[in-house]
Amino acid sequence: MQKFIEGLPKVELHLHIEGTLEPELMFAMAERNNIKLRYGSVEEVRQAYNFTDLQSFLNIYYAGANVLQTEQDFYDLAWAYFSKAHAQNVRHAEIFFDPQTHTDRGIPLETVINGLHRAQQDAQNKLDLSSFLILCFLRHLPPEAALRILDEAQPYKDWIIAVGLDSSEKDRPPALFEEVYSQARAQGYLSVAHAGEEGPAEYVWEALKLLGSQRIDHGVRSVDDPELLKYLTDRHIPLTVCPLSNVKLRVFPSMKDHNIKEMLDMGLRVTINSDDPAYFGGYMNENFIAAQRDLGLTRDDLYRISLNSIEATFLDEPHKVALK
Ligand code: ADE
Ligand code: ZN
Repeated sequence: MQKFIEGLPKVELHLHIEGTLEPELMFAMAERNNIKLRYGSVEEVRQAYNFTDLQSFLNIYYAGANVLQTEQDFYDLAWAYFSKAHAQNVRHAEIFFDPQTHTDRGIPLETVINGLHRAQQDAQNKLDLSSFLILCFLRHLPPEAALRILDEAQPYKDWIIAVGLDSSEKDRPPALFEEVYSQARAQGYLSVAHAGEEGPAEYVWEALKLLGSQRIDHGVRSVDDPELLKYLTDRHIPLTVCPLSNVKLRVFPSMKDHNIKEMLDMGLRVTINSDDPAYFGGYMNENFIAAQRDLGLTRDDLYRISLNSIEATFLDEPHKVALK
């Protein structure tokens, strides 16, 4: 099975580029940018990755992102990810980035996006790996801040396919971001949103109905609402599920308790993704392998998930066909 999974052509739809910062690269960047880390060694960093919930992870994740300072840092971060993804037979990736995490500490948006974009071009040309960028609004910050970053992103609109919503979910309902999504969609952006990770099924409804979200990132709490399950199934709305993340952040007590197989069997368009692989112990193959092993996914299940991912991309039909 492991060989089968490794050979399966894969598409990644839920990946935070800041979540691919491996401790080794964190140390290298801290050194070259003269930044003092609170950890003494790579091992110490890994030991700190002991999360109890989403917020306990986010605190460490945002602190880690401080080492990213120059355009070259963003390039190196993204290039390291593309190289790993390529080695795991990932053919296409739709990648989140959190501009506010950087602009709020004085790094210009231009620096962030030029570095990411250049790595995307190299991934296309040197690795035959295509990718799109998704600009995420941080939902722990006020909706007005999201409107400001949307305005700032205007000059780079052609490099960004969609907007997304991430960060702390509890008590931060999608409804707060209705206006910014409405403006983004009017400007031609597609839309996705994290919902139903730690938050309730109601937030998935809000993401769909109020934000016009075309995919739901995570969405595992949808199983609490049969009407929602029917809505998602009838409309083939993709859920970008992240198995290792969900176990690390204690959304499920163990992989054996994960509901991805149950949702797949119900006919939902579920996909497997890695979320923040440097923090959660694995990239695409490790996520597939862990879910397969503990939930008894069959080869047919794995093909179905792989096809679901292709259908769920923002690629046009000819490019989807080329991936099959
Ligand atoms: N930002 C990075 N990873 C995230 C996750 N799993 N949920 C919400 N925001 C995130
Ligand atoms: Zn995520």
